[in-house]
Amino acid sequence: MKLIHQIFQCSYLLASLLSIGLTIYSGYASFADKPIFPKDQGTFEKDYPEISELSEIEKGERIFTTLCSRCHGNDGKKGLFGASDLTTSTYTVEQKVDLITKGSPLTVMRSFKKELSGEEIQAVAKYVHQFAK
Ligand code: HEC
Repeated sequence: MKLIHQIFQCSYLLASLLSIGLTIYSGYASFADKPIFPKDQGTFEKDYPEISELSEIEKGERIFTTLCSRCHGNDGKKGLFGASDLTTSTYTVEQKVDLITKGSPLTVMRSFKKELSGEEIQAVAKYVHQFAK
């Protein structure tokens, strides 16, 4: 009887640890806008098929207003959660591509390679590069 009781207590503890962990992670994931279940995420073009009709710079703008402007602002200057002011960025287009692909560790600037193709990252990098001119 004692053993059953211990097993019960142990699994109860494990279940509560697991649910606490999940709560914290999903809170973080929604804050940092990380896909919680990455495999379920389509590419940007799957969700917004109309962008295949657009020119590269229009594509960049559409991606920016959908994924980036809530931190960076439509003019690149909003700076929410410590987001860089894109009008004073000294990064080259290549450095921007690299950052958008990999994200910036320990900041909410995450990697966007799950939902954006290489071409789309290039388009949005070129679009934000215009802010710095
Ligand atoms: C959740 C908020 C958030 C979102 C969404 C976001 N960013 Fe950022 N971004 C940041 C933060 C914070 C930094 C600063 C990172 C650092 O200090 O290393 C940053 C930095 C950058 C920089 C570096 C500029 C520089 O010179 O330092 C670029 C370029 C950039 N973001 C582009 C984008 C693009 C493009 C998107 C959309 C695909 C995007 N960001 C979405 C928060 C965000």
